[in-house]
Amino acid sequence: MSVTGPMPMHLSKPLTFFVYRSRKLCGPNAVDDLVARSARNNRAAGVTGLLVHDPVHFLQFLEGPMDAVGAAVLRIAASDLHADMTVLACEPTDMRLFSDWSLRGVSLEGRGETIADIAGSLDLADPEGCIRRLRFYALSVA
Ligand SMILES: Cc1cc2nc3c(=O)[nH]c(=O)nc-3n(C[C@H](O)[C@H](O)[C@H](O)COP(=O)(O)O)c2cc1C
Repeated sequence: MSVTGPMPMHLSKPLTFFVYRSRKLCGPNAVDDLVARSARNNRAAGVTGLLVHDPVHFLQFLEGPMDAVGAAVLRIAASDLHADMTVLACEPTDMRLFSDWSLRGVSLEGRGETIADIAGSLDLADPEGCIRRLRFYALSVA
């Protein structure tokens, strides 16, 4: 059978790419534990992602089926290990950046750049530019 005609957006881009920044309320030992527990949840749900952290903030990238990403975001928002979640990107996508990692944790310590620097460099009036910059940044730190 052949299928012709344009693919509707929600079928050609079945994945959601979600990025937020939050203020960290926990120390390094809690982060390791958090990454291990979150990675277990993500593996079961088909979610992949990256959790960047410095002493002050988290910056998390998640990708997966919309429902699974939505459920993870609810768990994330319920945690008192952080506060003040700011969504930086939420868009349909057709490819994963982190297909090898259910959740990779990256500390920015010693790298000379902070999450505040990255978030401050985004032009929120230009969502496509933000997403390009976030994707590029994620691949460069991962
Ligand atoms: C910075 C941060 C990132 C998190 N990332 C994820 C995630 O990627 N997937 C997920 O399911 N939960 C995530 N969570 C939620 C934690 O995994 C949740 O607090 C933990 O699973 C609750 O513990 P429990 O699962 O043992 O009840 C995150 C929480 C925080 C604070």
